[in-house]
Amino acid sequence: MHSQDKLPDHVCIIMDGNGRWALKHGLERNDGHKMGAEAVRDATEFAAETGIGYLSLFAFSEENWGRPEQETGALMQLIMEYVEKETPNLMKNNIRVLFKGDLYHLRPQVLERLEQCMQTTGGNTGMTLIIFINYSGKWDILQAVNKLLEASPNLQTPISYEAFSGYLSTTGIPDPDLMIRTSGEERISNFMLWQMAYTEFYFTPVLWPDFRKSDFRVALKAYSNRKRRFGKIEE
Ligand code: FPP
Repeated sequence: MHSQDKLPDHVCIIMDGNGRWALKHGLERNDGHKMGAEAVRDATEFAAETGIGYLSLFAFSEENWGRPEQETGALMQLIMEYVEKETPNLMKNNIRVLFKGDLYHLRPQVLERLEQCMQTTGGNTGMTLIIFINYSGKWDILQAVNKLLEASPNLQTPISYEAFSGYLSTTGIPDPDLMIRTSGEERISNFMLWQMAYTEFYFTPVLWPDFRKSDFRVALKAYSNRKRRFGKIEE
């Protein structure tokens, strides 16, 4: 990155390929997730150092519940441990952490840890790290519609895009400028559907546990060369 390169304010990542990484190394899938957590540390550090405002990570989708209990349990445990272990480091780096998703359906012990972390880091003024757990883009839109229906007697209709966005779980967070997906898969997988209407997509074959700062730098470089027109013509 050069100082004149255009930097995204909000980067979101679909961290994919932990299972394939494990298979490649003759390890268990859960070992792949553990190595994935190491890559999370690296990416967070890099984003904060670089001056990115918001880093969003898709850690556990609503659909991930379809995996064997052994894996979903281990993933939840790993996320909990990570959050606990990393909080001092996040404090040191002035990082505010938010968790987004259907959090109230998580085990109370998990929810409690997440809330603790949000509270501890809530006053930090550097980068915002958003970890999506039990999240899906369709869930987000539906929960917004449900909130709207509850508010309906007092609603100003027709509702504007801005007003609707105010009901999404990501309200207050700018839409992602760049979405990175690792492992060679090229889809959105029910991540922030509404919010990614004009996001630039970057796909890399690198498996998530192998994703290092240098890979992140290449993605940012690619972004800086994109011309964003938002449906208009170039000026
Ligand atoms: C996708 O790989 C990855 C996940 C479903 C989980 C992401 C979780 C982590 C990176 C670790 C913990 C997260 C935090 C925030 C500490 P996959 O299992 O679908 O891989 P595959 O497609 O190769 O099987």
